[in-house]
Amino acid sequence: MRYTNEKNRGRCACRVELFMEKLIVRPSGPLYGRVGISGSKNAALPILAAVLLCESPCIIGNLPAIRDVELALSILAGMGAQVERIDRATYRIDPTHAAPPGAPDPLSGRMRASAYYLGAGLGRFGRGCVGRIGGCDFGGRPIDQHLKAFLALGGSMEVSEEAITVQAAALRGAMIEFDTVSVGATVNAILAATRAEGETVLKNAASEPHIADLVAFLNRCGADIRGAGTSTLHIRGVKHLRGCSYAVIPDMIEAGTYLLAAAATQGAVTVCGADPHHLVPLISKLREMGAEIDCEERRISLFAAKRLRGASVITGPYPGFPTDLQPQMAALFCAAEGRGLVEERVWRQRFRYAIELQKMGAAITVRENTAYVRGTCLHGAEISVPDLRAGAALLIAACAAEGESTLSDTSYIERGYEDIIGKLRAIGADISAG
Ligand code: UD1
Repeated sequence: MRYTNEKNRGRCACRVELFMEKLIVRPSGPLYGRVGISGSKNAALPILAAVLLCESPCIIGNLPAIRDVELALSILAGMGAQVERIDRATYRIDPTHAAPPGAPDPLSGRMRASAYYLGAGLGRFGRGCVGRIGGCDFGGRPIDQHLKAFLALGGSMEVSEEAITVQAAALRGAMIEFDTVSVGATVNAILAATRAEGETVLKNAASEPHIADLVAFLNRCGADIRGAGTSTLHIRGVKHLRGCSYAVIPDMIEAGTYLLAAAATQGAVTVCGADPHHLVPLISKLREMGAEIDCEERRISLFAAKRLRGASVITGPYPGFPTDLQPQMAALFCAAEGRGLVEERVWRQRFRYAIELQKMGAAITVRENTAYVRGTCLHGAEISVPDLRAGAALLIAACAAEGESTLSDTSYIERGYEDIIGKLRAIGADISAG
């Protein structure tokens, strides 16, 4: 039985727990216990877009129950893919009868990763169309590198206030040299080139674990891509991709967030299912600050016997310190001893959380792309969440602070963290609906 697109959408929009707009956080004392890590948001989103390139059903497992994944499933359903939930983290998606959208899906404005439906649409149908691309506000979020890749592969594009449309009568492999390392542009180039004619070489490509995961998924579907995890990728185009079963890697940013929460509250936490190889810069920095960390194949344990010492971090593309852990690290610096410094080299304006931390008594000042911190005792305050990772940082600060905090606009956090409130409560946080 086939479902209409709108009915199809309804079948997949039911998983994410209702999230409170306001949260009350009281001092938790040390956070203590085990946290199970969900699938990676930033791997799940490109893999879901890549499903569109296949001509038979895929079963995708370890999908995190977060708003962005729900949106991605809805976008696929809106294009006519059959989306069926198998269990909490597993979906069967049949893109056999999917069709290119005639007009941009209004849902595409709600997340950054809707840009991936340009590359995937181009690869499968020779046409991709999305609305104004959403996502967290870190100042400008250009897409010139995405467009450069489409152009090199033979695409033409139309960019207006309302929509971006790319199309190509035939995609041809090409040499693409990115002048900036971009996760999104690398994903889009891979998606478009996988079914192009001939070979594509991507230079200065992103090498994040989520890129390697996308490549592993595509290769399992019959693609021919080499070099994943390095800055040069060789993609030999194939005519057809068949669906497969695949499980998404664990979320390194989620794992890092709970390690930082334990560190800020002088607690002890084991993150289960996380891959320590993905978090080397964070683990090394936390050890330098005085935390004891023990790594096994699929778990990381942290113990902070006392307040940690401040340190410096500089963000950068993988394998550098992840920008998506920068706000949480700054929150830890605010609650630590001595001076801390965060230099942001990916999103130079990613400091909208600093003003909220100041309301909690934090000694944090931002000049250009650097935050300077002097550790102090934080106190509770009324704060609002400016974006996803900032939300996690403010939750960490509120758990470590003395007194009660009220966080508003917290629904940002549901975009990227599966059941963060339940997981924090399970390790001792005192969080309730406001
Ligand atoms: C992805 C992640 C986001 C993370 C970021 C960097 C997803 C869904 N989101 O975002 O959480 O913070 O990687 O690790 O995976 N740039 C250009 N031109 C472009 C594209 C990017 O100049 O065409 C610049 C950006 O302004 C930024 C840098 O490149 O300074 C990195 O951006 P990019 O890696 O593309 O981030 P996203 O893919 O949007």
